[in-house]
Amino acid sequence: MHLDELSSPVPVVDYDIARRNIGRLQQYCDRHQLKLRPHIKTHKLPFFAHEQCKAGAIGITVQKLGEAEVMAQTGLADILVTYNIVGREKAERLANLTNFVRVSVAVDNEKALEALGWAAGRASAPIGVLVEFESGGNRQGVQTPEQAVNLAKAILGHSGLEFKGLMTYPTTAKTAEFLQQSLPLFRKSGIEVPVVSGGGTPSAYHTHELAPVTEVRVGTYIYNDRMMIAASAATLEDCALTVLTTVVSRPTIDRAVIDAGSKTLSSDLLPPGQGNGYGLLPDYPDAIIDRLNEEHGLVNLERSVRKPEAGERVRVIPNHACVVTNLHDQIYLHRNGDIIAQLPVYLRGKTV
Ligand SMILES: Cc1ncc(COP(=O)(O)O)c(C=O)c1O
Repeated sequence: MHLDELSSPVPVVDYDIARRNIGRLQQYCDRHQLKLRPHIKTHKLPFFAHEQCKAGAIGITVQKLGEAEVMAQTGLADILVTYNIVGREKAERLANLTNFVRVSVAVDNEKALEALGWAAGRASAPIGVLVEFESGGNRQGVQTPEQAVNLAKAILGHSGLEFKGLMTYPTTAKTAEFLQQSLPLFRKSGIEVPVVSGGGTPSAYHTHELAPVTEVRVGTYIYNDRMMIAASAATLEDCALTVLTTVVSRPTIDRAVIDAGSKTLSSDLLPPGQGNGYGLLPDYPDAIIDRLNEEHGLVNLERSVRKPEAGERVRVIPNHACVVTNLHDQIYLHRNGDIIAQLPVYLRGKTV
């Protein structure tokens, strides 16, 4: 079957580009003695998680226990959950996971540590714990090196928990600053820090220059998207995920309507000044998807010399690949347009 025969709108992945992206970053990490632990948030597919591990990744990263549970069922052996686990119900699920996989978790506060301690009491193997620190993302994470050391000491006080090291997102110059201040404090306290886990596709290939991390967590690098092009972290040729759409109306000379709206492309925009609209049309680069309804996208063709006809297939590179995969039950893998697999997106909607 060929891509042309698929009903639109439909997300499709160029297998050769995805494999090239997997291989290229793995080679970079190998060259710089960095461990690679891909985040599965971009593809949400056991298939690609296994491909990444076969290429050399040491394990995977997930954000939610529900994602870890699905991945564990498919035989992935080493899973890091980069999110505070809070509450007994989740602690019990975490403990259950230790029956199947080597599991580690990030933590930045005592309340979450309480849940981990409870899980450790029921686990069948030690649970690895990393202290998350803030390094420019303004998300969660301890704010000072002293807090990091104190939390590490509290982790070491729980039998069944294994202090693995530090974790942050994204890797920035601030990561280096934090590590410069905190690693001597850890040494002074006699606490070993075997792992420093950093991440983010935009800075992935600069990791060795940015900060002394030992592990790289990246998600978007496998598919890339318009945001990565805008961040100069990818080119159009590196984008593996495309949404195939159809022009269903050309009501005016300067407007086309495609059959993909927010339910297909998501409502994510690029940061201000980096590009307009809800996706890039590589065959009509001056066209702008400037409005989305749930089911349809309104394409402004004022600046586009060539204009797509009603009935024409139009490719869209999404702004943000991860949210797009979450919107679809399945994606199609293709090679030069020939479909080679239809893959259910098993991890979509795993919010718990
Ligand atoms: C904790 C964590 N690690 C890694 C990543 C991967 O980032 P990217 O998709 O930029 O590679 C993310 C993305 O949100 C994240 O939240």
